[in-house]
Amino acid sequence: MKFQTRAIHAGQDPDARTGAVVPPIYQNVTHVMDEPGAHRGFDYLRSINPTRRALEECLAELEGATHCVCYSSGMAAATAVASTLKPGDHAIASHHVYAGTYRYFSKILSDYGIEITFVNTEDALNIQRALRGNTRMIWVETPGNPLGTISDIRAIAEIAHAHPGSPFVAVDSTMASPYCQQPLSLGADVVLHSTTKYISGHLDVLGGALMTNRQDLHDAFFYFQNATGPTPSPFDNWLTLRGVRTLGLRMQAHQENAMAVARFLESHPRVQWVMYCGLPSHPQHEVAKRQMTGFSGMVSADFEGGLEAVTEFTSRLKVWSLAESLGGVESLISHSATMTHAPLSREEQEEQGITQGVCRLSVGLEDAEDLVEDLRQALA
Ligand SMILES: Cc1ncc(COP(=O)(O)O)c(C=O)c1O
Repeated sequence: MKFQTRAIHAGQDPDARTGAVVPPIYQNVTHVMDEPGAHRGFDYLRSINPTRRALEECLAELEGATHCVCYSSGMAAATAVASTLKPGDHAIASHHVYAGTYRYFSKILSDYGIEITFVNTEDALNIQRALRGNTRMIWVETPGNPLGTISDIRAIAEIAHAHPGSPFVAVDSTMASPYCQQPLSLGADVVLHSTTKYISGHLDVLGGALMTNRQDLHDAFFYFQNATGPTPSPFDNWLTLRGVRTLGLRMQAHQENAMAVARFLESHPRVQWVMYCGLPSHPQHEVAKRQMTGFSGMVSADFEGGLEAVTEFTSRLKVWSLAESLGGVESLISHSATMTHAPLSREEQEEQGITQGVCRLSVGLEDAEDLVEDLRQALA
């Protein structure tokens, strides 16, 4: 079945007891047992819940995965992936990642005796060069934050799996959504989503998810969740599932609008450069065309005049909001150096190409003409 049909039906059979077409919210902590130790598939909310299960089945189906575990946030899901590493292990991660991931890897994980090497994964050979005998994980964010860089998932998976230690490849595919990219089909071992973003789609719920076809990794992810408790609430799962039902339709509209915005910005004299993986000018456009099933709705641009000019320009916007996060129906613009990537030092920002004029635009679902017109008047 096609994507949008699976988004509406996978994991969402009418309720067996009542016939409710929309899966109900099971807002309960515990389930009755038939006899000591024998439950009917559900025992305790931290471990398992019917509403969460419905969401997990649906997300697994959309990513072409056999397994999915949902968490209370994208960062909780990232922590579950890292929980498979042990002191003395080495990992390689994309330089261009969400700043929270960079902070977690560089400031917390390193204190647990796990060494992380950050490389530009846009060139897969950098991974080949960074591999060591004890490399256990390769973490790729594509499209990457905040510049929208693209890494070649298939090439990276081939390099990783040919290495004697066969490190697993985890792809943070949040900026693409399962509609625009299915990393497991390209050879990745794990897909991470901050479901806070496109998957839930309405900026009203926090969540994360891990999908994999590997039983050993799934068991570790489930064990971590059950043992440590970063469990999402049933209501949050229900809201997320409600968002998933329109994911394909929303993504088509996001990418149409993003193309209109990217083309406008590319033609504007006050914009130094634009990065949108759907534009032929994007340095990894050919890779994006090969590996993505859509270009998603994220555009990055460098505005002339740095922070001062961005402050003035964003204060004039009427439709766009100056705000963090992405993937909702409302269009958002964030100034990378002072907002999403503020946890990085100035040197770290510069190393990653985040200059003072760089903004990330999450193109929403308003009318494209209004979005472009608002940018035009604010830049005038
Ligand atoms: C690409 C990416 N991965 C992970 C996260 C973390 O997700 P959450 O905020 O749900 O913890 C974010 C948050 O912005 C993100 O943009």
